Amino acid sequence: MKKIALSILVAILTVSLLAACGQTNDSKQGEEKKTLIMGTSADFPPFESRDNEGNFVGFDIDLANYIAKELGYELEIKDMGFDGLIGALQTDRVDFVASGMSATDKRKESVDFSSEYHRSGEMIVTLKDSEIKNMEDLNGKKIGVQLGTIQEEGVKKLSETMDLEMKTLDKVPSLIQELKSGRIDAIYLDKTVGEGYIKELDLAGFDDESEGTPGMAIAFPKDSELVAEFNKVIEKMKENGELEKLEEKWLSEE
Ligand code: ARG
Repeated sequence: MKKIALSILVAILTVSLLAACGQTNDSKQGEEKKTLIMGTSADFPPFESRDNEGNFVGFDIDLANYIAKELGYELEIKDMGFDGLIGALQTDRVDFVASGMSATDKRKESVDFSSEYHRSGEMIVTLKDSEIKNMEDLNGKKIGVQLGTIQEEGVKKLSETMDLEMKTLDKVPSLIQELKSGRIDAIYLDKTVGEGYIKELDLAGFDDESEGTPGMAIAFPKDSELVAEFNKVIEKMKENGELEKLEEKWLSEE
């Protein structure tokens, strides 16, 4: 009898203990941090790429993590083709995009941008022994660009005045492969990214001085309330030196 009473007691205790646990869990859930989903195309070092273990690394990753932390959000990163990022914003599949994206007027028709956090430029990347030494030399050549980028737009425009063949690929490392195997003669690429590859892979190249392109900014669905929140943190990072620290970590040329 005693045994039964005891086991009933244990059972009751267990149930109430579980209930109590459930409760704390519930109340914790109420306070649980909200998660922001970031879209990026992790093929663009030093802004975003993956390390050997597959972790996202780069300037944009650190920047997004810092901002999310400041604002009290958890961060989840989704890797996708650069070409799909605007669509992902428009269909609310991601809350924002940090992907070295230039804040162009055309994109501003479909998404909102934060204040600019970096200004780069464009360059031509070639093999070291290439005969292409300036923009005019591109005549008659095959040029690689990443799908959906301002570089793609740029080469399309160049081809109005020159005899060019454009090859469009989804990911920057594929462009590098094409260049190394001689299937394209040059890549039209962001300057900061191009300089990194030139140094790392012993390639060559030169700047396109022709026109300035808009700086990089974080993109949001139209009318997202996050724009103002993010801008506040970016401003703060400009003032307290955190942005400069990130530039030194990822963008300085040693
Ligand atoms: N800045 C260029 C653009 O906005 C290229 C960005 C490519 N970014 C990337 N993560 N692959 O069109």
